[in-house]
Amino acid sequence: MDQSTDTNADIWKSQEGVQFWTAKTAEREQKRATHWRFLGELLPFDEQDVFTFLDLGAGTGAAARGILDLYPRSTAILTDFSAQMMSEGQREMQDYEGRFEYVEFDMSTSSWPAAIPAMLDAVVTSMCIHHLPDDRKQGLFAEILAHLAPGGWYVNYDPVSSADPVVEATWERVNDRDDPEAAGKRLHRTPQEQHRFENHVRYVIPLDRQLDYLRSAGFQGVDVYWKHLENVIYGGRRPA
Ligand SMILES: C[S@@+](CC[C@H](N)C(=O)[O-])C[C@H]1O[C@@H](n2cnc3c(N)ncnc32)[C@H](O)[C@@H]1O
Repeated sequence: MDQSTDTNADIWKSQEGVQFWTAKTAEREQKRATHWRFLGELLPFDEQDVFTFLDLGAGTGAAARGILDLYPRSTAILTDFSAQMMSEGQREMQDYEGRFEYVEFDMSTSSWPAAIPAMLDAVVTSMCIHHLPDDRKQGLFAEILAHLAPGGWYVNYDPVSSADPVVEATWERVNDRDDPEAAGKRLHRTPQEQHRFENHVRYVIPLDRQLDYLRSAGFQGVDVYWKHLENVIYGGRRPA
């Protein structure tokens, strides 16, 4: 894709994009809190284990908070490329003072900052891999593997697409039952909503390809550990 048509950075680094995101924080937490907790449950730690995990594209830290709550002696490194999202995250994370650190990192590059430890106990991503073109999804998965301690896990919570229009239509129909206004909203998006929607779907790809990327990178135990319609949690571990 021509980089000039990729609006991702403009959206996430704008005050308007961040305001749109934070306006729906409560609604999102209600819908997704159990999924973020489940991300944490997939990690092979005991409740009192001391470990450090990385949350890439962490935004305001929702996934990290789910894991920090589950493991009270864990600490998190949260990365993002948006100063606006990280600033909002500093406020949302204030109850976790001393247990987290934000580091600026643009995942569209492979230049991992030195502030990210070379060897991590676990890596998670939530709702951000779909913002990367496929070559960066593949590259990032390999880089994550290289930053994991032997036996360390990577888990990703993200939407996927389907090449089968019947499957896509089924996902949409079932989702619409939860939101009777969804069909109307799809037909009458404001220009800003359309802009955000196009950014959301630009690089969403089928699940199988992403699992193949993980296996090709060298992950073991690759599986879809949870799935509801288009939303999935998949992952794997670095060989022990
Ligand atoms: C949909 S939000 C998800 C935030 C958070 N992980 C969550 O689940 O609530 C996507 C996040 O990915 C970040 N992001 C998008 N593209 C990125 C990139 N190339 N590098 C780093 N962060 C990126 C955005 O700034 C935003 O914070």
